[in-house]
Amino acid sequence: MIIPKINLRVPRYVIVIFIFLTGIIACKKALLDADFAGFSNPKHFPSPTYHFETNNITKEGFVLGRKLFYEKMLSANNTISCANCHIQSAAFSHNGHSVSHGIHDLLGTRNSPAIMNLAWSKTFMWDGGIFDLDLQPVAPITNRVEMDEHLENVLNKLSASPVYPVMFEKAFGSTEITSARLLKALSQFMLMCVSDKSKYDSVQLGTGAVFTMEENEGYLLFKQKCNSCHTEPLFTDNSFRNNGIPQTNINDSGRGKVTLQASDVYTFKVPSLRNLSFTVPYMHDGRFFTLEEVLDHYANHVQPTPNLDPLLQQGTNLGISLTTVQRQQIIAFLKTLDDHAFVRNPDLSEQ
Ligand code: HEC
Ligand code: HEC
Repeated sequence: MIIPKINLRVPRYVIVIFIFLTGIIACKKALLDADFAGFSNPKHFPSPTYHFETNNITKEGFVLGRKLFYEKMLSANNTISCANCHIQSAAFSHNGHSVSHGIHDLLGTRNSPAIMNLAWSKTFMWDGGIFDLDLQPVAPITNRVEMDEHLENVLNKLSASPVYPVMFEKAFGSTEITSARLLKALSQFMLMCVSDKSKYDSVQLGTGAVFTMEENEGYLLFKQKCNSCHTEPLFTDNSFRNNGIPQTNINDSGRGKVTLQASDVYTFKVPSLRNLSFTVPYMHDGRFFTLEEVLDHYANHVQPTPNLDPLLQQGTNLGISLTTVQRQQIIAFLKTLDDHAFVRNPDLSEQ
């Protein structure tokens, strides 16, 4: 019996398919590696202010920064990570907590701000006391009521761990763990926390979403009454102002503490208004739990405190006149700034 030759060989079309499939798998892997797009500036945002030239964001640097952000070894007793007070589902703020709640259950005096769009911030903290994002983490790591640790100890703990030296090598070329590298990696993670996928963004970019009548009325009112301080598209003009909230017995003098200028006393950084549904409560000390209370403040309770912003004092009139309907319209607009994709982005979650 003659066995046809063809049966002994792998048919040519099988080889072709095989090569084709390996090609696809190889491409897929390359795609996954290339999946990390790096930092990109949303079309409708201004140019960022962060100095990327001294800290270029790489996939390895970002992955290391993310791990460090969720790392409890950054605190004295290994119980508190940055993410304890900056929770992703709360747009990286500490929702429900008026003031920060740190190590040994100690309380601070200020509300944990959201971590988002920091590449566009020129100063950090409610009083702008820190002017470089790369220096920011030193404050919570060493703060007695936050993480209460020494940078030196953090570096030692990380160096002794089985995972970090390798991760630092991938990110920075050698296994050496220095504070500069630690801080750069944390910045890389925080810079990637970009919130630009709200309904408002989609409307601005013309990518499908349309405001309802109520949202649109709210947007028009917002532009008249709020935008000079909470300037779109970041919803802050990065300035320090006094919005007339009454002082409390903590008597936090805000920016005045930093500059020691009388004209800065009781002024605070204008916060972004993105993701307000996730960042309750509001103001530097988390005194308001609803947007209705915030608008009631602007309409009825602005105090003639020293340095009250002139925009909130027209002649003898204090505050911003707002009818009940107008307040509802503004709140409807503010909710279009919620970015559900950001608070659920798996790339920014603990891995
Ligand atoms: C115990 C709670 C707590 C921990 C832990 C904590 N933070 Fe914060 N964070 C705060 C508070 C409160 C503020 C505002 C402080 C102020 O204005 O004085 C803040 C402010 C910030 C800001 C400034 C944001 C802005 O818009 O100005 C950044 C950035 C930040 N934290 C990053 C971090 C990083 C990184 C870590 C970990 C190394 C960390 N935080 C750990 C509570 C915390
Ligand atoms: C004169 C400038 C100015 C104007 C006008 C202004 N704000 Fe503010 N706003 C601020 C400042 C400053 C703060 C932070 C004050 C603090 O925490 O002590 C703030 C805080 C807020 C907060 C709290 C956000 C957070 O994350 O804690 C909301 C919400 C808010 N403003 C909404 C509005 C709305 C809505 C309008 C218009 C009706 C408005 N603001 C008009 C300056 C202004």
